[in-house]
Amino acid sequence: MGVYHISGGNKLSGQLRVYGAKNAILPILASVILNAGESVIHNCPNISDTCISIKILEDIGCKVAYDGETMVVDSSVADVCSVSAELMREMRSSFIFLGGLLGRFHKVNISYPGGCELGARPIDLHLKALKQMGTEIREEHGFIICEAKRLIGTHINLDLPSVGATENIMLTAALAEGETKLTNAAKEPEIEDLEAFLNGMGADVRGAGTDTIVIRGVKKLHSVEHTVMPDRIAAGTFLVAAAITGGKVLLTEARPEHLYPVTSRLIEAGCKIASEDSTVYLEAPTELRPIEFLRTRPHPGFPTDMQPQIMSLLSLAQGVSIISETVFESRSKHIAELRRMGADIIVAPDGTTFIIKGVRKLHGATVESKDLRGGAALILAGLAAEGDTTVLGSKHVERGYDQIEKSLKDLGGNIRYEA
Ligand code: UD1
Repeated sequence: MGVYHISGGNKLSGQLRVYGAKNAILPILASVILNAGESVIHNCPNISDTCISIKILEDIGCKVAYDGETMVVDSSVADVCSVSAELMREMRSSFIFLGGLLGRFHKVNISYPGGCELGARPIDLHLKALKQMGTEIREEHGFIICEAKRLIGTHINLDLPSVGATENIMLTAALAEGETKLTNAAKEPEIEDLEAFLNGMGADVRGAGTDTIVIRGVKKLHSVEHTVMPDRIAAGTFLVAAAITGGKVLLTEARPEHLYPVTSRLIEAGCKIASEDSTVYLEAPTELRPIEFLRTRPHPGFPTDMQPQIMSLLSLAQGVSIISETVFESRSKHIAELRRMGADIIVAPDGTTFIIKGVRKLHGATVESKDLRGGAALILAGLAAEGDTTVLGSKHVERGYDQIEKSLKDLGGNIRYEA
């Protein structure tokens, strides 16, 4: 596993293009199975989760060509309806392949997904919904075996607006008989991108971005060409990189409206934000202000995927901030590492409320990334800290950032990746 070496102190400034979204490309790559044809996908982020998805597609018989930006998948020859346990363990979002395979073959053999660092991350909502659509589900030797003679549209109400369950239902329903009405659906922008992709191949999906999604099953889908939406979490991370180092950054090819939940909080911390059609500009204040209370929520609330990064920022704000993590019960592994760098953070007895007393300075240390966004938060802290920081465990960061060291270096950060 690689490491990042960072010498803190440089103000990060400049312009950066936002690349395609990890959480959009992954469900899209699971949907390409459905059209039994060609899918041309532009703006694919070059991250390790994309590479795992390619391996899964190749394993099930698809032909994939990828040049680091555009991917062409031919799923007409796919003939395997299972995903190896090894690949399933590599990333949690592999579970979205369940919907793609079930929709196409009415039969899937899949194991429990990996990527469980953030707590239990159950899949009960996915399975309950697929049962409601007529799928028989049984477990054998750690595998979940799903079979459906017919997939029939119905009304599904999710107990929680789960992103993954919403996507699995959309995929399964695209070729099902009749209409599926999904209420209390997740409203994340990536769901809208998935709707656009599915409709591009001839599906009939309406309402993504709201809490009610209606999918009218069609008999057949066709080839599609699509450009993946920009990554709002990577964009948010780069905004924080400028904010935490006292710099300024202009993000291009961004979607400012996707970033409001984050930019509104950065304004509270004292940053100046100016947005236009596809750009977001941030200028850091001379002194960061605390945020009295920040709670992570499903979209359009503050994204849990930005909680660790904003915590690094608030570690240097002059006053006390409180963060409440309400989406994942164990998203706190970065805290012990931030403390090694001099951050003053207390975890309340409930384990999900964090009290951050801003310090004047963080200092360099050797710290370990234990998950994707926690790793990014440590890199941000290292850029702002006095002295040298080594962040171990690059593999987590590489899952979701396309060469983060290059983006940060382009902005003037002193960061080096060592394989
Ligand atoms: C997706 C994102 C992830 C993000 C998360 C929340 C992708 C590839 N990943 O993950 O980056 O952090 O949304 O915005 O898009 N839950 C259940 N039962 C289920 C499913 C979920 O109880 O069957 C719970 C989870 O434990 C969690 C909450 O619902 O507490 C939200 O999870 P979910 O929205 O499903 O997250 P993911 O789709 O895994």
